[in-house]
Amino acid sequence: MLAIDVITIFPGMLSGFLGESMLKRATQRGVVKFRTHNLRDFAQDVHQRTDDRPFGGGPGMVMLPEPLFDAVGSVRQAESRVILMTPQGRRLTHAVAAELAVPGHLVFVCGHYEGVDERVRTSLVTDEISIGDYVLTNGVVAAAVVIDAVVRLLPGVVGAEGATEQDSFANGLLEFPQYTRPAEFRGMKVPDVLLSGNHQEIARWRKLQSEQRTRERRPDLLES
Ligand code: ADE
Repeated sequence: MLAIDVITIFPGMLSGFLGESMLKRATQRGVVKFRTHNLRDFAQDVHQRTDDRPFGGGPGMVMLPEPLFDAVGSVRQAESRVILMTPQGRRLTHAVAAELAVPGHLVFVCGHYEGVDERVRTSLVTDEISIGDYVLTNGVVAAAVVIDAVVRLLPGVVGAEGATEQDSFANGLLEFPQYTRPAEFRGMKVPDVLLSGNHQEIARWRKLQSEQRTRERRPDLLES
């Protein structure tokens, strides 16, 4: 079982996401357990402030340390990974998702505005993850992406056994082209080999297609 706690000032943004499709099924199967926490419940003042202006001046707001330390403190266990979503973090890849897709406890801390007080980074979190080189208005969207990528790798979530092993990136290559019925659609034919029933030939064709696609679209993957 993987337990996932998400701390955000926008818990409503996650509820639909966690309540549909694959993530809903994962919850029903007991593979994963989600809890969301409204950071405002941990605010210290009557206005439920969770951010303030930066020392030294400048634009934007910075998230206050106290509510974040209290919120994380209320859920954290000895072995928890406390993950701050930030464009400054380690870039999310299949390898990062696979590393997190093990039984345990993940706590996602979702920042917003200009970011979080530096003491949160240095003393509270164990991991910092970015979903790409662009800035979102809110880390909860990024946390949703990480959660989706992680949960689908847990055993028993994605239907067919082996379905995630063949993913693009799982073996360092992009996935081969896929076809389904009809065998001919508006004059466009499915490659003969896929209709041949020769599994060895099919596997060979797919491997070649994977390699060719990766060379054309993502040569950087072949270098690493
Ligand atoms: N918060 C804002 N932008 C982000 C990004 N690119 N990745 C993760 N968290 C973020």
